Amino acid sequence: MSSPPKDQQRKRVTLTKLAEMRALGEPIVMITAYDHPSALVVEEAGVDVVLVGDSAANNVLGYTDTVPVTVEELLMLTRAVRRGLKTPMLVGDLPFGSYEASDSQAIETAHRFVKEAGCDAVKLEGGGPTSVARAKAIAQAGIPVMGHVGLTPQTSTALGGYKAQGRDAAAATRIAGEALDLQAAGCFAIVFEAIPSAVAETLMAHLRIPVIGIGAGPATDGQVLVFHDLLGIREGLGARFVKRYADLQDEMTAGVAQYAADVRSRAYPGPEHGYSIDEEELRAFRAELAGRTLRAA
Ligand code: KIV
Repeated sequence: MSSPPKDQQRKRVTLTKLAEMRALGEPIVMITAYDHPSALVVEEAGVDVVLVGDSAANNVLGYTDTVPVTVEELLMLTRAVRRGLKTPMLVGDLPFGSYEASDSQAIETAHRFVKEAGCDAVKLEGGGPTSVARAKAIAQAGIPVMGHVGLTPQTSTALGGYKAQGRDAAAATRIAGEALDLQAAGCFAIVFEAIPSAVAETLMAHLRIPVIGIGAGPATDGQVLVFHDLLGIREGLGARFVKRYADLQDEMTAGVAQYAADVRSRAYPGPEHGYSIDEEELRAFRAELAGRTLRAA
């Protein structure tokens, strides 16, 4: 796919644009990216919002969950993504332990994502009193902040593991309260992760900010998926809500295995992969080398 002509080029996605999309019922497309090549892909594909999720922890850094990833690690990945993006809104994910301790810690970390990595906004997890207070502090410090309720992987142990949330009236009501509190705190948008579709649909009428779902059914204003999940750059199928659009892990493994086989059988490199030298220059070079070898002997 080539870029659209200059006069049809997409404008940068702003907070106003997202609010307009919600008002017009235009679905918002959000995806994660963790490096420069994936940023170029999602830019070219025309998504609206790119999240450098703390899910980089398990998708590219080899951790088993999102808890250990650090601010420094995410800033490095976020800067690489920033260099590949022109139009989508870039959201940096505040990792576990980088915002909970105090409002000033939250503001300081959020500032780093904006100033050092060029983020347009940040995201934090949870809708309890601490997360709501931090979201408010960050918004009041002038940084757009996105909330995230339902399954919040940073605190999944407390939630009973990686499983759907809000599946009884009390739990659904708690999520509703959290979403409303985050909205009141000044969040410009909110992620609903792994909650029943009917709960998300019921909640939509009570919120005025864009809601982006992942495993929350079709009623939300937009959807987000992890780049590696939807392109199959991982083993196994992942969560129930993942739809696979490609199987790149298999394709990449097959490609590298073929390369290894070609090197071992000397099928690679072929003559077309090498550089030539003028015959006369080659003769002169060989003569020069032979002379030197003789002198050295
Ligand atoms: O880190 C992440 O990938 C996320 C998305 C699932 C929303 O938070």
